[in-house]
Amino acid sequence: MQVLIKRDDLLHPPDDFCFCGNKWRKLKYNLIQAKAAGYRQLLTFGGAYSNHIAAVASAGALFGFSTIGIIRGEEHLPLNPTLLHAKEQGMHLQYMRRSEFRRKQEPEVLQKIEEQFGPAYVLPEGGTNASALQGVEELVAELRAQTAIDARTSVAVSCGTGGTMAGIILGMAGQGKVIGFPALKGDFMKGEVKQLLANEDASWENWSIQADYHFGGYAKHKPELVTFMADFTQQYGIKLDPIYTSKLFFGVLDLIEQGVFEAGCKVIVVHTGGLQGIKGWEERFGPFISFE
Ligand SMILES: Cc1ncc(COP(=O)(O)O)c(C=O)c1O
Repeated sequence: MQVLIKRDDLLHPPDDFCFCGNKWRKLKYNLIQAKAAGYRQLLTFGGAYSNHIAAVASAGALFGFSTIGIIRGEEHLPLNPTLLHAKEQGMHLQYMRRSEFRRKQEPEVLQKIEEQFGPAYVLPEGGTNASALQGVEELVAELRAQTAIDARTSVAVSCGTGGTMAGIILGMAGQGKVIGFPALKGDFMKGEVKQLLANEDASWENWSIQADYHFGGYAKHKPELVTFMADFTQQYGIKLDPIYTSKLFFGVLDLIEQGVFEAGCKVIVVHTGGLQGIKGWEERFGPFISFE
């Protein structure tokens, strides 16, 4: 068996962890579209530690958009590393009560925001939309140029909204298998991915969800996962993020140990980045490893 890692965490220079991984894939065509339509502002939503917020802030600074981040909950000072980064990139941060945040896609909430900020290209929380899927599909095109992909190939990826996984499924176009590892608890991911595929008139069935590696849910962790992250980094020299990719790699290695993958197959694990989250995580829970 061969295990390969698609290092999308290296898509952007290491001094800015924020605009790499699946964020670059998911934002690319949105940025092109925003520019073509003449928008000068990007507006999006996220939690206080959101990789997506950090990425949109970086993308705006890089490509000449002003950016607005609508942040769930109340302001906490000093700003955590994610929001500090966003602010340093020029993002305007506005906090929204949780009850209103839940209704953020409703026309009257959006209208109120637009009245305040003027026209803006709106990206959903997490950045998943049709253009995001289009960008992720390119990851598979790259993979095909890098390694042979056939019926015995599995691509493993972490899931939040399921957009990255759906883009990979589209790119694989029925070949091999795609396995999603949700970072969140619950059994909604299958439905989300199915819906995202249906939106693209696709009905591929060569995919599955491994729901047993959420470690308690979003942004939750257990000592076992912390030890794994530290060991993995020491052994392979590759950093993992505590929210998404650590659970993915743990899951893949566990399935390999269980003998789930047949001999002679190829497993490609997609490193979707998220390393900006390490600082904020350590601030809350304490250092889990010295990476240097
Ligand atoms: C580092 C990282 N990996 C994976 C994911 C999951 O991506 P998606 O929301 O497209 O499922 C996210 C969340 O957006 C993320 O930040």
